[in-house]
Amino acid sequence: MSDNLLSVNLCGMHLSNPTILASGVFGITRDLLSRASRNGAGALTMKTITKEPRSGHRAPIIVSFESGMMNAVGYANPGIEEVCREYADLSDVKCPVIGSALGETPEEFAYVISRMGKLPVSAIELPLSCPHTPGFGLMSGHTDPKQAAKITAAAKKATKKPIIIKLSPSIPNVGEVASAVEKAGADAINCGNSVGPGMIIDIETGKSVLGFGMGGVHGPAIRPLAVRCVYDIYEAVKIPIIGCGGITTGRDAIEMIMAGATAVGVGTATYYRGERALALIADELQEWMKKRNYKSLEEMRGIAHGKK
Ligand SMILES: Cc1cc2nc3c(=O)[nH]c(=O)nc-3n(C[C@H](O)[C@H](O)[C@H](O)COP(=O)(O)O)c2cc1C
Repeated sequence: MSDNLLSVNLCGMHLSNPTILASGVFGITRDLLSRASRNGAGALTMKTITKEPRSGHRAPIIVSFESGMMNAVGYANPGIEEVCREYADLSDVKCPVIGSALGETPEEFAYVISRMGKLPVSAIELPLSCPHTPGFGLMSGHTDPKQAAKITAAAKKATKKPIIIKLSPSIPNVGEVASAVEKAGADAINCGNSVGPGMIIDIETGKSVLGFGMGGVHGPAIRPLAVRCVYDIYEAVKIPIIGCGGITTGRDAIEMIMAGATAVGVGTATYYRGERALALIADELQEWMKKRNYKSLEEMRGIAHGKK
C-alpha cells in the first residue's frame, strides 16, 4: 500500500491510511489493540472508560437485522485505574491509539481524562453521544451545545493531548453543536456514534430483544445519516472531522471524505468483513484513487460541497 497516497495527519497523529477502528467494537484488552494494529488500521480507538468499573446492561447486548445491527452494551468497562495498568505499555501497537474517556459531569470527564492523558495515547475522544445509557451522552443532554462546550473546556484543561468530540448523528442541529465545541477548544470532531435509541421486538414473545429494551443502531442503515451530518459539520467548523457510521467498503469511505471527513471510523464492518476490514477498505480506497488519478486524500476532501 503506497503510504503517500493514503497517509493523513490528524491532530498531529500520522496515519498510514485514513481508517480508524471505532471505539468499543473490539472489546477492551491491550492484546486486541495490538492485533488490530497488525491488521492494517490507520489508528485505533480504545473502548470507552469511566471513572468506576461498570458491568453494563444485561444480555442480550447486541442484535443484527437486515440492514445493520443494534447494541446496548452500556459502557461495560473495568474503570480508569485498571485501564491505566492494562494500557501502560503500548509499544507493540504499531499505529496511533486514541483513548476514549467518559463521565457524567464535566468534573468527572476531567478526572478520567487527566488519568488517561498519562497513558501512551495520541489523543482522547469524548463520546457525548451514546443513545442508550442513562447518565451519559444523549440520555443526559451532553449534546446540548452549552453542555457539550462545558465538557470540552473541562477536557482541554485536564490534558495537553488533542481532544476529539464524538457527536451523535441523531441530533438535528449537529453543526451548531460542532461549532460550540470547536469554540471551546476541541481539536477534532467524530461523527459519530450509533443512532437512536431504536428497538427490535421478537414477535413470538412480544418482548424487545435487547436486555436494555432499546439500543443504538449502527452499520449500513445509518450511513446516509452520518454522511449528511459530516456534510453539515464541514460547513460549520474548520477542525478535522472523523466520519463514522456504516462504512463497509472503500466506496463508503470515499463518500465520507467527499462530504468533508479527514479520516473514517469503522466499527460494524469488522463483523461483516472480519478483522482485516479496515485494510480492505483502505485497499479499495487506494485502488479507486489510482483509477481516477487522485494524488492525495486532500484533493477529494469536501468536493461534494462545490456541487450543490
Ligand atoms: C459492540 C459495540 C460497542 C460500542 N462501544 C462504544 C464505546 O464504548 N464508545 C463509543 O464511543 N462508541 C461505541 N460504539 C459505537 C461505535 O464506536 C461506532 O461509533 C458506531 O458503531 C457507528 O459506526 P459503525 O456503523 O461503523 O459501527 C460501539 C459499537 C458497538 C457495535
